[in-house]
Amino acid sequence: MRVAVTHPNAETRARWCAEIEARLPDARAFGWMPAGSEDAAPAAAHASSATNARAPGPANPLSADYAIGWRPAGAFFRSVRGLKAFFSTGAGVDHVLDEPSYPADLPLIRLEDAGMAQQMAEYCSYEVIRLYHHRARYAAQQRAGTWHEIQPVPRENFGVGVLGLGVLGTAVARSLAGFGYPVRGYARSPREVAGVSGFSGDALPAFLSGCQVLILMVPLTAQTTDMVDRRLLALLPAGAHLVNVARGGLVVEEDLLAALDSGRLGGATLDVFRREPLPAGHAFWTHPKVRITPHVAAITLVAESARQVADKIDRLERGLPVSGVVERGRGY
Ligand code: GLV
Repeated sequence: MRVAVTHPNAETRARWCAEIEARLPDARAFGWMPAGSEDAAPAAAHASSATNARAPGPANPLSADYAIGWRPAGAFFRSVRGLKAFFSTGAGVDHVLDEPSYPADLPLIRLEDAGMAQQMAEYCSYEVIRLYHHRARYAAQQRAGTWHEIQPVPRENFGVGVLGLGVLGTAVARSLAGFGYPVRGYARSPREVAGVSGFSGDALPAFLSGCQVLILMVPLTAQTTDMVDRRLLALLPAGAHLVNVARGGLVVEEDLLAALDSGRLGGATLDVFRREPLPAGHAFWTHPKVRITPHVAAITLVAESARQVADKIDRLERGLPVSGVVERGRGY
């Protein structure tokens, strides 16, 4: 069996190849990237060739049974033939579906948790806890040499909303509920999560009205693109804080900046952006109410993820169903 790995980072490609071969004794894995699609400082970048040392050197290097990747380039699908399924190296799959040459009938399978849920839960809980405990204000006080206690608001008034209750959103909601915050969750169709007030369908305004902190956990699809705009932000309580750990394309950046500048929003924590890396000089870099991290809220852990992908390949080879198959019509 042959497995193609396409990823803009040469080192990551090599790690995936090694992990897949270690877990599937019959598999030969090879990395493949078209020239010009590598991250900066690539180890190798030759079109139509295996671009890492683990290439098996088969008779036809451009056929494979399965592919694994991030942001596959169009040339990948024109060059690597015979695929039975494509595995996203992320929980999100917009980076794959954005590629117009992705074959309409090629099953696409996303990562499910694989160590990401705990990272997301910790990232979001950390943000909520530091907001609740006024840590930014205490840091400013330290800089000013001021000693002054700030009373926390009653916890029951500090509503935290999780927009999107998939695998990762549910883990975030559960974690925050465990800290005793009043957590509410919104999903397109009703979802029950213990300790979390559920909202769905046309209850989005009611959901938003109780979010002192709004955490975005929905996938980027045709329906969710630009959903966080001026109108949605106006439905949050005054001074609310936005946390985006999902996708930059969910948010209309000008509307977010306007809401921060007018004081309607108290702040934003942003891990994802419409353009990544965030371009130099972008207003978010220096905005006093914005905290930035470089798309690291949930890093793909290669060993754990490869174990999940290898298990699924093994099941597919035995004719068994697998979870995480993307419904192309919905986009996730
Ligand atoms: C990361 O952004 C992912 O989709 O897992």
